[in-house]
Amino acid sequence: MSNFRKTMGTIVSYILPTNTGRTDDPNPVTTLTSRDRYLVKTSWAKLMKNPTDSGVALLSLFFQKYPEYVELFPFKDIPASEFSSNTRFRAHANSVIYALSSVVDALNDTDLLIQILTKTGSTHVSRNVTPDGFNHLKESAIELFSALFKNDEVEAWKKTLNVAFSVILKGLENEQNTKA
Ligand code: HEM
Repeated sequence: MSNFRKTMGTIVSYILPTNTGRTDDPNPVTTLTSRDRYLVKTSWAKLMKNPTDSGVALLSLFFQKYPEYVELFPFKDIPASEFSSNTRFRAHANSVIYALSSVVDALNDTDLLIQILTKTGSTHVSRNVTPDGFNHLKESAIELFSALFKNDEVEAWKKTLNVAFSVILKGLENEQNTKA
């Protein structure tokens, strides 16, 4: 290959995204296309540059919008103004962000994805989390992502979170029924 073609190839591959994914291959279970998953994964990678701070941003917005859920947590006695600097709160934010990251990582493995999401729902029953709690967290995530991500990324996230949270709620409701 001539040096000119080699240089042009490098420039073109630098300017153009290498793989934006297909839009005509919706997964039969999740309905997500390759492009939806690509947009979710690449935007998520931006948040994972600072995982704990991203978790703090999400949980801070959630508790600011819905302060009633603070009561469920061990940091309920800490003033909200101290959340972002409190080690316990930051440790929890870190756990939540890595749990969400394992969801993003499993987007290409439907069986694993369903397992992770169902378990997330079922393990929160004993923590007294209601379906409303999950729906409110989903709304908070969409609000945060809308402020940080591009329109097509936000749309892919909405689609992904709607399907993901519907599986979480099934896990939660099944667990509630087995306990009833
Ligand atoms: C997709 C959504 C969610 C994910 C991935 C998630 C993830 C987690 C994880 C990984 C833990 C264990 C943390 C640890 O032991 O350090 C946890 C604990 C907990 N979660 Fe969630 N969670 C979600 C939604 C919610 C919601 C919506 C609420 C409340 C409205 C909630 C309330 C709690 C509580 C009260 C604990 C126990 C905290 C503690 O005792 O330290 N979670 N969650």
